[in-house]
Amino acid sequence: MKNIVWQEQKITRKDKEKLLNQSSCVLWFTGLSGSGKSTIAIELEKQLHQKGKLTALLDGDNIRHGLCFDLGFSVEDRQENLRRIREVANLFYNNAVITLVSFISPFKQDREFAKNLIGKDFIEIYVDCNIEECEKRDPKGLYKKAKNGEIKGFTGIDQKYEKPENPKIVISSDKMTIEESVNKIINYLAENKYL
Ligand code: ADX
Repeated sequence: MKNIVWQEQKITRKDKEKLLNQSSCVLWFTGLSGSGKSTIAIELEKQLHQKGKLTALLDGDNIRHGLCFDLGFSVEDRQENLRRIREVANLFYNNAVITLVSFISPFKQDREFAKNLIGKDFIEIYVDCNIEECEKRDPKGLYKKAKNGEIKGFTGIDQKYEKPENPKIVISSDKMTIEESVNKIINYLAENKYL
């Protein structure tokens, strides 16, 4: 980058983790619309908070009201959406915050970029729910609209969703309760020394 020089700072992520008495990571939820990503992330954040952990939750629908209000759902816009989100997640992570990210993030490449940026503390969580179940739930009525042709480029209907090949955690949200799902993630965090 021309005329821009990286500025070293004195206080590191480790210093801040020590201050907060926690180990930060990025919990990246990916899955179809209606799979339960946000519901699980919201409940997980509540439980982490109760354990005295400082968290941040970045949620697709909410972020698209502000930081990403200018973006739609074309392939290019989703890539830009996820570029911004991985940078924001990295900022929180480097400030020792346990960061929960809940976006469809349908393309493998964007998740790979996030993984490469964040490194060893990037925890991909695949919220696996078959599309028939998502369509049945249809909490926002969007599958119905997509099938009627009122929405174009809807993930799983007329735009692709690339399943993660090697996620650290899989939540089968069409078979597990919210409580079971959250427990599975908490157990993973405990086993891997994040809690
Ligand atoms: S992502 O693909 O860029 O990661 P993101 O998670 O931010 O998507 O936004 C998905 C949310 O936007 C869905 O939960 C749904 O409520 C809404 N939405 C509106 N249009 C679409 C669409 N064409 N495809 C998927 N989700 C859509």
